[in-house]
Amino acid sequence: MTRLRIIAMDDAVVFPGMPVTVTADVGDDERVLLVPRQNKVYATVGVVAEVSERVRMAGRGFAVTLMGVHRATLGGAAEDKDGVLRVDYEARPDQNPPAIQTRDLEREYRAVVDEILEMRGDDGRIKAFVRSIAGAGALADTAGYSPDLNFNQKLQILETFDVVERLKLSLQFQRDRLAELQVRKRIRDDVEDGAQKQQREYFLRKQMDAIRKELGETDGSVADEYCQKIAAAGMPDAVRQQAERELERFERMGDSNAESSMIRTYLDWLLAVPWSKRSEDRLDPVHAAGVLDADHEGLEDVKRRITEYLAVRKLRAERGLAENRKSGVILTLIGPPGTGKTSIGESIARATGRQFVRMSLGGVRDEAEIRGHRRTYIGALPGRLVRALRDAGTMNPVIMLDEVDKIGADWRGDPSAALLEVLDPAQNHAFRDHYLDVELDLSQVLFVATANVADTIPPALFDRMEVIRFDGYTTEEKVAIARRHLWPRQVERNGLRLDEVTATDATLRLVVADYTREAGVRQLERELGKLLRKTATRIASGDTQAPVSIDDAAVRDALGRPKVFHEAAVRTAVPGVATGLAVTGVGGDVLFVEAADMPGNGGLVLTGQLGDVMKESARIALTYVKSHSSELGIDDHALDGRDVHVHVPAGAIPKDGPSAGITMVTAIASLLTRRPVKSSIGMTGEVTLQGRVLPIGGLKQKVLAAHAAGLTEVVVPERNEADLDDVPADVREHMRFHIVGTVDQVLALALESRELAVAA
Ligand SMILES: Nc1ncnc2c1ncn2[C@@H]1O[C@H](COP(=O)(O)OP(=O)(O)OP(=O)(O)O)[C@@H](O)[C@H]1O
Ligand SMILES: [Mg+2]
Repeated sequence: MTRLRIIAMDDAVVFPGMPVTVTADVGDDERVLLVPRQNKVYATVGVVAEVSERVRMAGRGFAVTLMGVHRATLGGAAEDKDGVLRVDYEARPDQNPPAIQTRDLEREYRAVVDEILEMRGDDGRIKAFVRSIAGAGALADTAGYSPDLNFNQKLQILETFDVVERLKLSLQFQRDRLAELQVRKRIRDDVEDGAQKQQREYFLRKQMDAIRKELGETDGSVADEYCQKIAAAGMPDAVRQQAERELERFERMGDSNAESSMIRTYLDWLLAVPWSKRSEDRLDPVHAAGVLDADHEGLEDVKRRITEYLAVRKLRAERGLAENRKSGVILTLIGPPGTGKTSIGESIARATGRQFVRMSLGGVRDEAEIRGHRRTYIGALPGRLVRALRDAGTMNPVIMLDEVDKIGADWRGDPSAALLEVLDPAQNHAFRDHYLDVELDLSQVLFVATANVADTIPPALFDRMEVIRFDGYTTEEKVAIARRHLWPRQVERNGLRLDEVTATDATLRLVVADYTREAGVRQLERELGKLLRKTATRIASGDTQAPVSIDDAAVRDALGRPKVFHEAAVRTAVPGVATGLAVTGVGGDVLFVEAADMPGNGGLVLTGQLGDVMKESARIALTYVKSHSSELGIDDHALDGRDVHVHVPAGAIPKDGPSAGITMVTAIASLLTRRPVKSSIGMTGEVTLQGRVLPIGGLKQKVLAAHAAGLTEVVVPERNEADLDDVPADVREHMRFHIVGTVDQVLALALESRELAVAA
């Protein structure tokens, strides 16, 4: 056999059926032996190749194109006479076994290769090539084309002469490759996915920032802003942690869904609480007294109580005594409308250098109003206390709980229960609003409550209150208030100067007496406003020249006919009408109890909006009169075949029903004796069947009302005598008080001695 020229293939393996081009001079040889070589070491197996083309290259040597034919094992080598290395070889062409033996392997191999090609993005040409290969050995050799197999693997395939073994080996290599490719692809996909998502988000955020900037919203991201605000808010630790937790939740969520806007609202509220802010508390009783005096006329008792209250607080603070939790009482101002309760609350704030917030409780029936709704509610909000703190901007304001007598309770929960907690110094340092759901320290708040009447305040609340009563003003006090406060305020409000209009006290008194009927001064201020408005109009339109002095005629001219009549004289001119004194929702008032008789059979008819207590009083009154008819000089048969009708006009229904008792007795007795009631006398007192007169409440208010209504005598139950001390001296001077213990004393005082015939 002929020896073949050996051509070393450095780091490359050529297989049968594979074309290669090498730069080598092969002389005139038709065939050569291509032998893989690595690190100068030849393999022991090579491929016999046919030379299909030779090209002479420009300048240096040749290039030949060779085509592998079959395997060969190398034998001995020797140089020929031209110095060319030639080797002996043994041809090892493939011995393909029967197709049946390799069919499954082949199918498997093709499938794996197809998949690999698929993954590499083959355009179909290589697939077609692989498909065109017939013969198991040749098929196994296609692994030699694979760029992913290394030199050693390829050499292994070359060295495996047994076709079945070789196919198995190739299949093994290709499977490994496929697995590797798959893993690589998965990783790449994952990475790409992540990267794409990040990129997408990045772009969206950039866009959002741009839009926000365009809208003039701030630069930093929303979360950053909250972060700074939370850091600056000076919250207690627990609250700050809660805020940070919510902020984290918000950040995780991105700020575009509904939930995140709820978190923002929550954070906004949390930040709205002035956690670390407080006004410098000024507990100086002298200064406080000065402020209270400057703002309010009269009310000496009230001012003194408030000053004392502050003085005690000051002492306790100075001596380092903790706020006494048991004695923590709430200043509560109770009195008729317009008597300055709200405005004195403002003065307390001014006197102590605190902020003032008014919190109206009128009509509040729901605990959630006070405490807020839990956050799980749609549209939940914090309660009024949190809102009050926000409005105050400090943690130690004066909060006025206005109209505590008008809170109600129903199935939505009792608001007074929440208020109790708020007002209880033992609990209110850790008040929990349902919405915020963090602890709020309310212990520095100075609570002041107001009410018109005491009896509708929930008892548990009333128990904790330190009550200061506002009983209404006397005419002289009203004149003084008008002079010092209302007049200057209205003058200024109507665009005038104090030196342009004047009015004497007598004129002011006329306005008070003839145009107002109230315990407070609201209506008075309105009337003065009207008066000054008319005056301002006249000055502005040139009708008169400033300065203007307003006299009684000008008052009548501006305010019209007197609005208040002293009707006692007219009403009591006939027998059967008595003047009672009562306390209603708007203060003291006079009321006329009317009695009449008519055909019937000795019964009692009641009209007017009388409560049960008053109806009972009326029955007792009638029984008393009947059983004492002889002493009273009433004809025994006066009631034969007749009914008595008692009427109390609506609008003057007293809060304390029984106090009209003696008035009813007097009215009935007057009717039956035909003796009219003295027109100058007013009365109040409860009556028993035995004819005793029992004490009543609100004496001062009643006396003031009697005075305002032009009465000059008041019948007062014995046990109320001490209360007369509360009546201002100037009123006391003008009144005569009759202290009584029994009804016959009352009747002796009240009934005129002359009898009048009743018109039929
Ligand atoms: N003693 C007073 N001195 C000066 N001004 C007074 C005095 N009393 C009341 N006023 C004025 O009368 C007006 C009404 O008072 P305010 O609103 O405080 O009444 P209130 O007692 O709160 O009534 P309500 O029960 O209806 O709430 C206020 O403008 C107040 O300044
Ligand atoms: Mg008020």
